[in-house]
Amino acid sequence: MKFFLDTANIEDVKELIETGLVDGITTNPSLIAASGRDFKKVIAEMCELVPGPVSAEVAALDHVTMLKEGRHLAEIAPNVTVKVPLTLDGLKTCRVLADEGIMVNVTLCFSSGQALLAAKAGAAFISPFVGRLDDIGHDGMQLIQEICLMYANYPELETEVLAASIRHPLHVIQAAEAGAHVATIPPKVIYQLLKHPLTDNGLATFVKDWEKTGQKII
Ligand code: E4P
Repeated sequence: MKFFLDTANIEDVKELIETGLVDGITTNPSLIAASGRDFKKVIAEMCELVPGPVSAEVAALDHVTMLKEGRHLAEIAPNVTVKVPLTLDGLKTCRVLADEGIMVNVTLCFSSGQALLAAKAGAAFISPFVGRLDDIGHDGMQLIQEICLMYANYPELETEVLAASIRHPLHVIQAAEAGAHVATIPPKVIYQLLKHPLTDNGLATFVKDWEKTGQKII
């Protein structure tokens, strides 16, 4: 499973890129607003740092303006993935951009039916929002499972399932078990995946015992 970082914070990307864990980035208008930075500059910097897909979301709601915005964003770098909402105008935009060879991430997906439409519209990625479904008492991960099963019936579909709205490590594990191609993960959750108290305790003991030997490796 590929890991995308769900962030508009360039420092988070710089810190984690050296691990080789970062296959791409997703941003959204809320993350850009939280960063307080210029949208297009953030996207350009992300695209320089990460060779994989960097999702940049259109702001318009109508097809004509979405298309203009999408083409404009795609000019920033070859690895820009234009993010469009799962609306009729979004799907029309997806179709045109996909036919022009531009990768499209269809976002705000909350049902298998929506995911089927996005795939037929040529989406490179479909983003079902797990955490936001959990928030309203639904089972977000069940949606990931359903979409993965459905897409698997049609191997010619090139749309990748991108588990979004990930809130905790278990979501990442379950998305991998379901066969999601990608999980977009907030940096905080990457660190949660990394940490284990037994690793910390074990390491502290090894350090203490190594000191007792009085030896040096170099
Ligand atoms: C990413 O593409 C989505 O915009 C993001 O994962 C949404 O996450 P949230 O529901 O935590 O805002």
